[in-house]
Order: sequence, then structure tokens, then C-alpha cells
Amino acid sequence: MESFPVVDLSKLNGEERKPTMEIIKDACENWGFFELMNHGISHELMDTLERLTKEHYKKSLEEKFKELVAAKGLEAVQSEITDLDWESTFFLRHLPVSNMDEIPDLSLDYRKVMKEFALELEKLAEKLLDLLCENLGLEKGYLKRAFNGTKGPTFGTKVSKYPPCPKPDLIKGLRAHTDAGGIILLFQDDKISGLQLLKDGHWVDVPPMKHSIVINLGDQLEVITNGKYKSVVHRVIAQTDGEGRMSIASFYNPGSDAIIYPAPELVEKGQEENGQIYPKFVFEDYMKLYACLKFQAKEPRFEAMKAMETSINMGPIVTV
Ligand SMILES: [Fe+2]
Repeated sequence: MESFPVVDLSKLNGEERKPTMEIIKDACENWGFFELMNHGISHELMDTLERLTKEHYKKSLEEKFKELVAAKGLEAVQSEITDLDWESTFFLRHLPVSNMDEIPDLSLDYRKVMKEFALELEKLAEKLLDLLCENLGLEKGYLKRAFNGTKGPTFGTKVSKYPPCPKPDLIKGLRAHTDAGGIILLFQDDKISGLQLLKDGHWVDVPPMKHSIVINLGDQLEVITNGKYKSVVHRVIAQTDGEGRMSIASFYNPGSDAIIYPAPELVEKGQEENGQIYPKFVFEDYMKLYACLKFQAKEPRFEAMKAMETSINMGPIVTV
């Protein structure tokens, strides 16, 4: 079994640039995931964010989660639960406009540190998009521009905790799915595993590593690369005991009105005529569909967008 791809980003500046770019290329083509070390984000900042995230959970969320579990009778389930996740979570938006001030109970410190971390991740996401461009033979800045729309990219963070779960085989921490958006940067617990991706029909653990950032590719990059890179199905298995896994996942996505379509350079001759290329759509239309179909296969989502595209191209609808 090949080992999970780990990229030492500091090697991009030296003699090992070429093999490092190769690891990224192979990871994008064959895993949809890789783990970054020496990414340039301060370890101290990451440690502080982890501490504040855990404190926030204890203070403001743990009790609510326990009440929810009790109210739904989840401790005693006997058959597989398919309509919810064993997850305590909240969302923050950074771009195009931050909603951090609207999120209740966050300490001033936590807001400040999260903001600083998000700025670092935004820069890292844009750097990575350019590395992907280089590997794909696209002009520098192509992917960033493709995500831009009229208001710039959407960037947000989902903060999650997966508390100990009595029946992890019956209730998933997070059910299997692919991510809808662009590029995802995950600061995951360095001690408690649980994230798994589906590779060649087998679930593979994403290994916890201290101060790493896990990267994965969303559906939009699959469309723009015309399938050269693929979004990969992943899930989270909660543990039965211990403190519970922490996960801070940040999503660098297209702007809501960005028009997403395969980069012409990546469409091969004849593919267009044969209808083999991915669809063209407005990102927010895709997200509306995703909101209802997140835990289903991505292919029907692509097909639905393709069908919408056809109806758009059919010309005006005669109403009289
Ligand atoms: Fe995900």
C-alpha cells in the first residue's frame, strides 16, 4: 500500500522543488488529499487556536451537545443512523465579508486568533492554487481568477468536535461525502484520528501529524480541471472514548457568482463534441443543489448542472 502523501513545503525553495512538485501532482491525481508540513504558519498560532477551540467547546458547546444526544435518544440506537452526524459544529465566514462578530459566545481572544489564522490560511490557499496551476500547465493565477466572480472568493471555517460516541459503527462522526467547493485546508487533531478517505474501494486513515495542514480538493477543482484532479469521498469515525477529535476545516471556495467550467487548456480534442466534459454553471446554483445532496454521489450533481446548462442553451422559452 502506498503511503499517505506528505509534502514538505519548505523544500519548494531549494533543490528539491521538482520532486516536491511531483508529490503534489501525484497526490492531486491519485489521492485528492495530501498533508503539508513546514507550510509557514506559526506553530505557536496553531497551538493557541487549538487551546482556545477546546476551551470554547467545554464552555459553550459540550452541554448543548449532550442535551441534543439525550433529546434524540442517540445513546441507545440499534440500527444505523443515516440522517445525522455525531458532531458538534459551528461555521465562521471570513470572505467576502466576515460574520465573526455575529457568532455568539466567542471570546475576544478566540476571535482575534481565528482571524489571524484565517488570514494565513487564505495566503496558503492561494499559494497552493498557483502550485496546482503550475502542475496543470495553467497560467499562474488562473485558478484564483476562476474563483473570483465579482466579489472575490468565499472563504469560511467549520469548527468541529467529535465527542466520544457509544456506537461509532451506527452513527458516523461525519457521513461520507465529497466537498463541494475549491480547496480545503484542515487543521486536525494531532492525537485523535478518525478522518478517512476512500481510495480504490478502501477506507484509508488520514494520519494525525503535529502542526500539519491537511489539504483536499473539492468538486469545483474537479470541474475546472475537467476531471484531471478529483474530489475524493471522505468521512469521520468518532472514537468511543477520550476527549474527542478536534477539526478546524477551512474552505477556500469560488465566489457565489463565479462561473465554473473546465479550463479550455484541459479539454481534449473531441471531448466537447462528445459531451464528455464537465458542466458550466454558476457556483451558487451548485451549492443550492449540494445543500440537499451533500451525502450522495457527486456524479448526479454534475449531471443535474449539465441538464440546467442544456436548458439555458436552448434559447428563449415560448410562453404565448
Ligand atoms: Fe468534507
